[in-house]
Amino acid sequence: MEQISTSIWRKKPVEELLKDKETSKLARALGPADLVALGIGAIIGTGIFVLTGVAASQYAGPALILSFVFSGIAAGLAALTYAELASMIPVSGSAYTYTYASLGEFAAWIVGWNIVLEYLVAAAAVSIGWSAYFSEIFHSFGILLPAALTRSPAAGGVINLPAVFVALTIAALVTIGTRESTNVNKVIVSVKLLVVLFFIILGARYVNPANWHPFFPFGPIGITHGAAIIFFAYIGFDAVATAAEETRRPQRDLPIGIIGSLAISTVLYVLVTVVLTGLVPYTQLNVASPVATALLRAGVTWAGGVVAVGALAGITSVLLVVVYAQSRVFYAMSRDGLLPGLFKRIHPKFKTPYLNTILIGLSIALMAAFVPIEIIAQLANIGTLTAFVVVAIGVLVLRKTNPHARRPFKVPLSPYLPLLSLALSMYLIMSLPRLTWLRFVVWMIIGIAVYFFYGYRKSELAPEGQRLRWMLRGVRAAGFRPRPRRD
Ligand code: ALA
Repeated sequence: MEQISTSIWRKKPVEELLKDKETSKLARALGPADLVALGIGAIIGTGIFVLTGVAASQYAGPALILSFVFSGIAAGLAALTYAELASMIPVSGSAYTYTYASLGEFAAWIVGWNIVLEYLVAAAAVSIGWSAYFSEIFHSFGILLPAALTRSPAAGGVINLPAVFVALTIAALVTIGTRESTNVNKVIVSVKLLVVLFFIILGARYVNPANWHPFFPFGPIGITHGAAIIFFAYIGFDAVATAAEETRRPQRDLPIGIIGSLAISTVLYVLVTVVLTGLVPYTQLNVASPVATALLRAGVTWAGGVVAVGALAGITSVLLVVVYAQSRVFYAMSRDGLLPGLFKRIHPKFKTPYLNTILIGLSIALMAAFVPIEIIAQLANIGTLTAFVVVAIGVLVLRKTNPHARRPFKVPLSPYLPLLSLALSMYLIMSLPRLTWLRFVVWMIIGIAVYFFYGYRKSELAPEGQRLRWMLRGVRAAGFRPRPRRD
């Protein structure tokens, strides 16, 4: 039974959500290995290959190793909460959908609106990072691409064409179909993992322990400031949950995909950072390609190029998964009536929500072409952390309201671990710069306005009358008048 209501707290019952799954037109093609690959594909990218440089040189120094541990714990706890809800409600839409069941429509809309920051906005930052490594590889062959065509106006160029190119190409791949995309993803993920292991094993031989002193050049607070920035590196594990309706055995495989991919990435991040800060003094890491540069400066010049190619592959797979995840969240929101119908239209042959994917590709391309990377990356962090906070609350609420629902995976030690997850995410939000909060508030105000002008009236849970009045108003606004009846 749908909870038809005029309240902004109207909830979509769990049984109703599961019915959506039964009627889903998406193809069911994914297994546990696909999901772990999907997770690693979304996680390891710009965060480790690009942002470690800024975070080590300006915020944390060698203590960035501990920042990764701190952020990893926050992400790990959030992963447990996601896994519980993903196993309980295995439908498209991830955190957005869980919130709809636990906290109601308005909170769900807020989460969905934040996921746009997380995936779509992060994808723009990732495209810009891709473009930087792309130019770097040409540079290593002695070819200098013109700055006007490879940078945004804020970075001294006119348009960032490689970023536009990669955003559109990836959107096209996701449009063609899940199976094709995840196969491409697996190849790329393998290359990326090999290169990360290569860096750790080779780099370890050139580490100079003197570079780890001082370990806390910015004081112990540097750990949390660094953690708030490199949190970006963990964004993406939750993307696994958006593939629920395309997974063969979601209740067993989603927790494996989420927790497995996050655990592997965390171990690799800590090892990469130990080696990175041991290779060169942290002050030398303030560059766009710190992982490759550290090897070059330590004298292993031949290996720098190998790492650069791996980084490019890694960043490409992040884009692939993040675009995929965003398209599925839009699909779920549109199915609930909170976004227009074009977002849920499925391609008859490819069985994917093609129109929304095309729109996503165009939006990412537009942002990546003209907006600076720093603004975009920090906004993505705050949006993601806010979604984590709401998901932790969702777990606690559903345990109270639906105590007997089937939970194939349960967060251990509830309510303590969900509460700790909530506290750590809040703490990281507080550690972000004030300007980021301000931009975030503006984004939220726009989101709330969109909800009240559109979603609140058009929601599938809105009473018929409310939807009808809204449609009639639209018809009148378009200039149509009902003919007077002649009796
Ligand atoms: N975690 C992803 C990255 O590092 C977003 O690029």
